[in-house]
Parts: sequence; structure tokens; C-alpha cells
Amino acid sequence: MQSISEHTGNSGSFPVSRKFTIFEDHKTQANKFKWKGVHITFLGFKMEIKDKKVLITGGAGNIGSHIADAVIEEGAKEVIIIDDFTRGREENLAWAVKHGNVRIIKGDICDRELLSKSLKGVDYVFHQAAIRITQCQEDPLLAKKVLIDGTFSVFDEAIKAGVKKVVFASSASVYGNPSYLPMDEKHPFNNTTFYGAGKIANEELAKAFREKYGMNYIGLRYFNVYGPRMDIYGVYTEVMIRWLDMIKEGRQPVIFGDGKQSMDFVYVKDIARANILALQSDVNEGIYNVGTGIETSLNQLVKSVLELTNPDLTPIYEKPKNLVIVSRRRASIEKIKKELGFEPETGLKDGLREMIKWKEEQPRGSEKE
Ligand SMILES: NC(=O)c1ccc[n+]([C@@H]2O[C@H](COP(=O)([O-])OP(=O)(O)OC[C@H]3O[C@@H](n4cnc5c(N)ncnc54)[C@H](O)[C@@H]3O)[C@@H](O)[C@H]2O)c1
Repeated sequence: MQSISEHTGNSGSFPVSRKFTIFEDHKTQANKFKWKGVHITFLGFKMEIKDKKVLITGGAGNIGSHIADAVIEEGAKEVIIIDDFTRGREENLAWAVKHGNVRIIKGDICDRELLSKSLKGVDYVFHQAAIRITQCQEDPLLAKKVLIDGTFSVFDEAIKAGVKKVVFASSASVYGNPSYLPMDEKHPFNNTTFYGAGKIANEELAKAFREKYGMNYIGLRYFNVYGPRMDIYGVYTEVMIRWLDMIKEGRQPVIFGDGKQSMDFVYVKDIARANILALQSDVNEGIYNVGTGIETSLNQLVKSVLELTNPDLTPIYEKPKNLVIVSRRRASIEKIKKELGFEPETGLKDGLREMIKWKEEQPRGSEKE
């Protein structure tokens, strides 16, 4: 390791020393940041996961636990999970614990001391911890605390610890209702939710940390993620899980609204792979959509789910209760294809089949604990 520059920054009320480092074993690429008002160009590098120490916030959740599996498959030396287990589950990490060196820490991303201790010697961070959109609407102050203050703390402590790159979860929610389709990364922020506001703030914070401290980052705007390990126990379960419960009981699945609302459903393992590609890439600042580019209405989705479970049932329609419904959604994935080499690999039918199989295997169905 070779240190190329050092400066003093200000975090909260006390000054701290920040180091920019460059590593010799990586592919070169021009990379820019500003230091004391001067634009500096230096050689960038491709990140290796093998033998590295990785920290995943929200790592016991759906996406975070799949990222844990993926980094272990890439040969990570140690994986540290920070999760407060409000939604995460240890079972999600069973494969990772069996096949890798995993340390699970039950804690809050707003706890600075915990972050500081856990980040010692960490090479990379995947920041996934967040609360759901519905919970953000119910409790905007908590949304601010977890999404905005929590993310600020993760970025700030990562910089202090000398972390080489942060890949974080943004969301298609930043777009709100479409001005045009497919939504590319230049689509305006039509968001009107606290959750979306938090994710926009995360992206802006990443840019500011880059500008001031040279933080290497990629933010991924996930579209509608589904697959094994979706939360089936909590209060804020997703529509697919509720449908599967209803179908299992022989009841008609309920669609709120006319079912024409569309989404871009992307399989969770594809999301995990996008995270790995983002980390490994020599792109060190950027925001990317992660979706499939395919629009699926809730009517089409329920049809597919019923074909795979109980074709004798039909959906019923009820007045929407939810205030945060987006009319249509379809990602443009040109940028991530071109710059990070990402292509979705699992089609909706195959992904649903995997998810249904997994759900069937869960010991207690969706009973709440
Ligand atoms: N699932 C989707 O469709 C989707 C779409 C867009 C963006 N995202 C984002 O992706 C990320 C992962 O989502 P997911 O679907 O895996 O959700 P998830 O709820 O399964 O995972 C989030 C994890 O964060 C943990 N957590 C929550 N608050 C915490 C806190 N204060 N401190 C520590 N841990 C905390 C939860 O216990 C949970 O395990 C989130 O940032 C989410 O906003 C998800």
C-alpha cells in the first residue's frame, strides 16, 4: 500500500485525519478528486474482493444477505454484518456463516462508536440498511434518522477508517411517477415520499463525501427487488408475499387499485451481482439503475404467480389504501450495461419459481413471531 496524500477534514465537532490511498495491485484508470480547491487526477484501480475485509450494513436482510453470499464466493477474507434485526434474520446468513468467515454484529448504523470499531481494517462497505417506504411514511423522523443520519455516519466513519470503496443502495423511488419511460439516470426526481427523499439525500451525500474526502462510491438505484429471503414475518411485507399467503389459504389474492400499476421486477441475486460488479469496477463515482428494462403490471404479475401456484384462483380488486403508489416503472439499464457490464440473468418466471419454492420451505409460513 502506498499513501499518496493526506489532509485534515472536519467531522462533526472534532478534526480528524483522512488519508487517500492508492493500491499497487490494481488496474489503472484516470480518476479525479478535488483537494484544497485543486482538482487532482491520479491513477484509479480495479478492486479485488479476494482476501479482503468487507462490511455490509443491513446484511441480515434480503439483499444484504445475498451480497454476503456473493462476496464469500469471491473469496473475501472476512465479512462483517451490522444489522439491528428489525427485519433481518440470522437464517438469511446460514449459507454465508457455513461457507465463510462471518462476524454478525447486532447494532444500529446510527451508533457511531459501533461503526468506528467495526470498520477497523475494513476494505469495502456495502451499505444496505434502511427502513421500508411504508414505515418511512408512517414515521418520517425515523426515516430521517436511519436513511439520512445513518447513511451520513456510515460514509463518515468509512472515510475515517480508510475504506477504499462504498457501494450503497439507492432506489427507483427517487424518480416518483414517470416523466418518460424507460427511466434513465437523468430522469427528474419526481419523488414525493420521505423514503425517496432519504435516498436522494444519500446520493447527494455521496457526492459531497467524494468532493471533500475523495470517497470512492457507487450508488445503485434498485427497481423492484424480489426473491428468496424477502421478509415474510414483519409488518411491512411485500405484495408478493401477501399474495402467496392468501393463495396458500385458498383465498383470492387482493390487488389494490386496477392492477395496471407496473413495476420493473429484478431478481435479488441479480441485484447482488450488480453490487459485486459495482465494487470491482474501476468506476469510483457513479449512480446506476439496476432493473431488467421490462415493465410488468400487477395484473400480469398475479397471473404468473397464480399459474405457478393455483391457476383456479383469480384476483380480487380493492380500493388502494397505500398513498405511495407509482403508476408505472421501467428502468433504462443502458448505463450499467455499458459501464459496469451488468445484465440481468434471471427472468421473472424463473425468479418467481425460486421464490415460491423457498417460501414453501419456510418452517412457519408467514406466521408472525
Ligand atoms: N427490496 C427492494 O425492492 C428495494 C428497492 C430499492 C431499494 N432497496 C434498498 O435496498 C436496501 C436493502 O433492502 P432489502 O430489500 O434487503 O430490505 P431488508 O429490510 O430485507 O434489509 C434491510 C436490513 O436493514 C436492517 N436495518 C434497518 N434499520 C437498521 C438500522 N438502523 N441499523 C442497522 N440495520 C438496520 C434491517 O433489519 C434489515 O435486515 C435498502 O436500503 C432498501 O431501501 C430495496
